[in-house]
Amino acid sequence: MELAVGGGMRRSASHGSLTESDDFDLSRLLNKPRINVERQRSFDDRSLSDVSHSGGYGRGGAFDGMYSPGGGLRSLMGTPASSALHSFEPHPIVGDAWEALRRSLVFFRGQPLGTIAAFDHASEEVLNYDQVFVRDFVPSALAFLMNGEPEIVKNFLLKTLLLQGWEKKVDRFKLGEGAMPASFKVLHDAKKNVDTLHADFGESAIGRVAPVDSGFWWIILLRAYTKSTGDLTLAETPECQKGMRLILSLCLSEGFDTFPTLLCADGCCMIDRRMGVYGYPIEIQSLFYMALSSALQMLKHDNEGKEFIEKIATRLHALSYHMRSYFWLDFQQLNDIYRYKTEEYSHTAVNKFNVIPDSIPDWLFDFMPCQGGFFIGNVSPARMDFRWFALGNMIAILSSLATPEQSTAIMDLIEERWEELIGEMPLKICYPAIENHEWRIVTGCDPKNTRWSYHNGGSWPVLLWLLTAACIKTGRPQIARRAIDLAERRLLKDGWPEYYDGKLGRYVGKQARKFQTWSIAGYLVAKMMLEDPSHLGMISLEEDRAMLKPVLKRSASWTN
Ligand code: GLC
Repeated sequence: MELAVGGGMRRSASHGSLTESDDFDLSRLLNKPRINVERQRSFDDRSLSDVSHSGGYGRGGAFDGMYSPGGGLRSLMGTPASSALHSFEPHPIVGDAWEALRRSLVFFRGQPLGTIAAFDHASEEVLNYDQVFVRDFVPSALAFLMNGEPEIVKNFLLKTLLLQGWEKKVDRFKLGEGAMPASFKVLHDAKKNVDTLHADFGESAIGRVAPVDSGFWWIILLRAYTKSTGDLTLAETPECQKGMRLILSLCLSEGFDTFPTLLCADGCCMIDRRMGVYGYPIEIQSLFYMALSSALQMLKHDNEGKEFIEKIATRLHALSYHMRSYFWLDFQQLNDIYRYKTEEYSHTAVNKFNVIPDSIPDWLFDFMPCQGGFFIGNVSPARMDFRWFALGNMIAILSSLATPEQSTAIMDLIEERWEELIGEMPLKICYPAIENHEWRIVTGCDPKNTRWSYHNGGSWPVLLWLLTAACIKTGRPQIARRAIDLAERRLLKDGWPEYYDGKLGRYVGKQARKFQTWSIAGYLVAKMMLEDPSHLGMISLEEDRAMLKPVLKRSASWTN
């Protein structure tokens, strides 16, 4: 199955052809100044791009600042551009990391299509670690984009779109059209010499949960590709436009919801087994916000797109209000909840979700610093999950779901609680671990998720790239440098493990795979971003206040 894109597709923009583009002038972005990583103020998408803002998201406005050069196009087998581009010596493990990343490449009919989750020959059980996971591929994709190798990312985006088109069934129940797979595999028939794809939408996954995050990561990656290459033609194809609309229609339909957050089953994201993250997990809410904002920049204002654009703007407005008001926790807010009255009825209620102050866990009172704060794990009626989750908080910073003050407070918390959240091996997926009776009830006695292991307070090197990006955005690169220094002491020596165990993350995880691709790619992305912070624009969005206002008031649209 090949995608028929030839007719409608313009020539892919390379460095040379960008300036030739008649309807979209990105040429000024090519001369943008290098940024000093020591700068303390937040990096702004628009100030990064040195483009005067058009004041809207009419044609030109939407992709303002979309181009962030990552070096010229290189062959997939070539040397890393980052070490060639920069004068200082790369760390000795960077070369090994690139080699390991390239070893994990998966080819489909001769074309590189993705990277397998882990290249661990020593492990007896392969399970599905020999597959290309959508979420796992994101740091690989960013590494290739930053290294000037966008082709593999384009292939991945187009092929996963084809997979989205498949009919998806778990037992006798059909999944929504827009669902994207958790992972896929290339099967090679040696006799016929053909490659075919096999995808898993949750029907084979342990627990049978469909990944809610895959579609969001797909949209985020499409924007990263567009921003990195300056190639608008891919996002503009009818196939990509439809793919975005299908993903979004799964989340924007109206129903019984009273909250703008997205209701999810346990295990539908990076934490893909039962860990008590059902309901409204922060990871999904942040990714949802980021995917909506990214789609808003890329959707065409044609008949089909317009309807979505209006819905997105309305949802973003409500979602940011809800998250910033109810998921945010700092010293003051904690004190307020501690003193909450309960059983309040009607519109005047302060304690809207009827949270019982006794449900605040003891650890939180000591953990909460006077300065600092974070988005808690989950909020629903009478239930606040006060745990810290790294991915959701980092994405909240990158997507600008967090206000600048909240972003600063999250970084303050990380500095204040370094031992707990970063430890000896960065960084904790969540904090604290659940133990004993609570572990039994919440995980269903999961032996892989025992305290301070795997998803239950384990330390995941892949999260380094997200931390680094958030550090650069908030003007705190020294925090990332400190974390990367720690990682560099162990990662290669330990064989790039999937995760570490223990309160300080000191031990290689009990069942951790070695040569876990996203541990390798995450490290490379973190390094390249610190070397050249202009890469940040690929995965960071600034809040566009005008964007959050009702779209109907706008006059300009960028396609009609
Ligand atoms: C584990 C992780 C999941 C990851 C997969 C492949 O299942 O929980 O987040 O995508 O491994 O690495």
